[in-house]
Amino acid sequence: MLTSQEIRQQFIDFFKDKKHTFVRSSSVAPNDDPTLLFTNAGMNQFKDIFLGTGTREYSRAVNSQKCIRVSGKHNDLEEVGVDTYHHTFFEMLGNWSFGDYYKKQAIKWYWELLTEVWKLPKDKLYATVFETDDEAFEIWEKETDINPKHIIRCGAKDNFWEMGETGPCGPCTEIHIDKGGEEDIDGTHPTRGVNSENERFMEIGNNVFIQYERQKDGSLVELPQKHVDTGMGFERIVAVLQDKTSNYDTDIFTPILKQISEVTGKKYEGENQVSMNVIADHIRTLTFSIADGALPSNEGRGYVLRRVLRRACRFGRKLGMKEPFFYKIVDSVVESMGKAYPEIVSGKEHIKLVLKNEEESFNKTIDRGIELFEEIANKSDKVFSGKEAFKLYDTYGFPLDLTEVMARERGLEVDNETYTKEMEAQRSRSREATKFAAEDLELQVVDEGEHSYFVGYTTLETEAHLRLAKVDGEKINFVTDITPFYAESGGQVGDKGKFIFANGEFEIYDTQKKGDIFIHFAKNPNGAISEIPKSGKLVVDSANRKATAQNHTATHLLHSALREILGNHVQQKGSLVESNYLRFDFTHFEKVSAEQLVKIENLVNSEIQKSVSLETKEMAYDEALEFGAMALFGEKYGDVVRVVKAGDFSVELCGGTHLQNTGEIGYFRIVSESSISSGIRRIEAVTGMRATELARQESLSLDTIKRTLSATNENLEAKLQQLLEEKKVLEKEVANLKKEVAKSGSDDLLSEAVEVNGFKVLAKELEVGNAGELRDFADSVREKLGSGVGVLGAKFGDKASIVVVVTDDLIKTGIRAGDIVREVAKLADGSGGGKPHQAMGGGNPEKLEDALSAVVRILS
Ligand code: ALA
Repeated sequence: MLTSQEIRQQFIDFFKDKKHTFVRSSSVAPNDDPTLLFTNAGMNQFKDIFLGTGTREYSRAVNSQKCIRVSGKHNDLEEVGVDTYHHTFFEMLGNWSFGDYYKKQAIKWYWELLTEVWKLPKDKLYATVFETDDEAFEIWEKETDINPKHIIRCGAKDNFWEMGETGPCGPCTEIHIDKGGEEDIDGTHPTRGVNSENERFMEIGNNVFIQYERQKDGSLVELPQKHVDTGMGFERIVAVLQDKTSNYDTDIFTPILKQISEVTGKKYEGENQVSMNVIADHIRTLTFSIADGALPSNEGRGYVLRRVLRRACRFGRKLGMKEPFFYKIVDSVVESMGKAYPEIVSGKEHIKLVLKNEEESFNKTIDRGIELFEEIANKSDKVFSGKEAFKLYDTYGFPLDLTEVMARERGLEVDNETYTKEMEAQRSRSREATKFAAEDLELQVVDEGEHSYFVGYTTLETEAHLRLAKVDGEKINFVTDITPFYAESGGQVGDKGKFIFANGEFEIYDTQKKGDIFIHFAKNPNGAISEIPKSGKLVVDSANRKATAQNHTATHLLHSALREILGNHVQQKGSLVESNYLRFDFTHFEKVSAEQLVKIENLVNSEIQKSVSLETKEMAYDEALEFGAMALFGEKYGDVVRVVKAGDFSVELCGGTHLQNTGEIGYFRIVSESSISSGIRRIEAVTGMRATELARQESLSLDTIKRTLSATNENLEAKLQQLLEEKKVLEKEVANLKKEVAKSGSDDLLSEAVEVNGFKVLAKELEVGNAGELRDFADSVREKLGSGVGVLGAKFGDKASIVVVVTDDLIKTGIRAGDIVREVAKLADGSGGGKPHQAMGGGNPEKLEDALSAVVRILS
């Protein structure tokens, strides 16, 4: 029996023999296409070629691509577990022609591979073609020996393939296989044959003839060239060639299922099979997407992953697993697929850590979900609400079938119709969210010809001719034949500088890249642009470039230092390299301690002091990895990559602009370390003169502090500590003294009280530090008045405070501090209130005197 490894290799070798270049799988979590949460087809990484914005050195390609279909246009999540051949993660074997061969050659080769190399029985194969594609129909009929009755015309749903809501698309021809069964039925049967629900007929491959681009408004635009894009489900073809009815019985899945059995202590039989299949499928999705840099979270891609993980855990519960277990299955995925995809080998510990954390927090959620289920079930009569079932799914990760099982146990039926409606509504919400967001550049042709040839690694100035431009008042975006301007990528910002031409100059404030196009963003300092210059001299701002390079080279040193000090689990999650500072985000599960930061900073500085020359080299990707280069997960690399090496300390794949020698960084200082989300830390740092200035400033403030305290380096800390302690003691003493003063001060005050209706009234403005002191005074006045009312006021800046106190005997007669303060404060344009024995108010300080002098009148 052929192994899955061998089958993958045979596919690749077949097309390599036919002059196809092997291209590695791109990341499953792409960062360069806003229309995609996950890579959903082999052709994704070639989208720019189809759309005419990018080129490659080859016109034929072959690969095996890691794909995930759990969101957007292609979503198979709910099929997993229901049948045995849909997966959330799968490998797609593909071959491509970029404007090279077309329908005839593509179909003939496919037929040759299937029937001659793999010797599939011809009478079991069926081909579908798009209903109006007579050309494809005829090729099958005349160029192959397929049974002509097995060629079926189908509509757009099955035979017009589209990548997403927008993007490359075209008619396709699919190959289906009859896996056989007892019934005597033919694949052309209108309701039970190919493209029906009948699992017996399974699609194994698809050839798409890419010739259109779907626009945002839904229209189709013809592409400049015609291409072939194919996809064959690897797991399916392996099942066919290994003569298995279920993909889960192939050697791709058996090691994973074996480990699930071991971990759960359950046999792979009966009802357990579905749960185990789901877990085996989902662990691959999680393992590969985390290896490629994605993380479960609350939004976008991360949210989808979180839901997939929760679905797996729920099926784990069906197998009796209440503790985290899913993370343990990573080992078998790594064992069975690590050879073909080394990123999961190096990422293994990180992946397990992330999954374990997620499972732990989910287990807490699920217990709440079960409670909610019980609550709703108790209130339900016969029907379990579809809305609630959806909520359980969406919030607590309960798959519908689980809710159904739990409901059935209590004699309830789930309202599936409402559930489906809610699900549909959510799907269309998520479709909306992934619609193409890229802006339209609207560049006009100035002059035909090649463009965007980058020469900025070796020169900062060059003569250039304009190719494309767009003018808007004083602003201009333009593209030239050749440019030394680095366009923003890999975290490094775009270059700034000048474009000098016969009648003037433009200030270039940014450079950006779209596909292969380098766009200079510029403005004319003299106002509106009336005529687009045809040519001129591009000059990069060299000081800005140098400062940026200092930060970029330092970023590489920092990356290596982090791995050395914190461990190899550190992965770059993002970076920003500007002329002023650098920012580096990386995976790490706890705060980086002060001591570790010192070690990291020291390590970087010692590498700077070694003054090693930086080497940059172009080499094949695989060679670079062997060379020990750190590649970033989630980045897309070409076949030929640029490697930037700083001695033995750092080797990275990088397209950025760097220094000649690490010594040019001068000095490196970490400015801050913080958390940006769960498991991701951020370091900000400065280099060169910025770092020197920062150190100088810090030392100046330290000098000032030492002078003020008459301290030396040695005794500064002790002195500060002593001062703080003394301050504490003094504060306590002052507070006590103030109370004393208030007490004795109130004695003097009492002599100023007057008699009104048989009780004493004291109304007086005091000079005190704050409202608290005023209240202390009022309290002791109240104690000493015997029978009476005290009204004390004080000014604090643009506010006045008033405190009123009333003795207990008067409260009994109906006199209340709250009422009095309201009246008095009103006279000072303010308000107040409080308890019967004490109340506070505020008002305008200028009116305080008048208000206080009215107290006696108010009380009499
Ligand atoms: N891009 C095509 C598919 O995914 C081949 O089916």
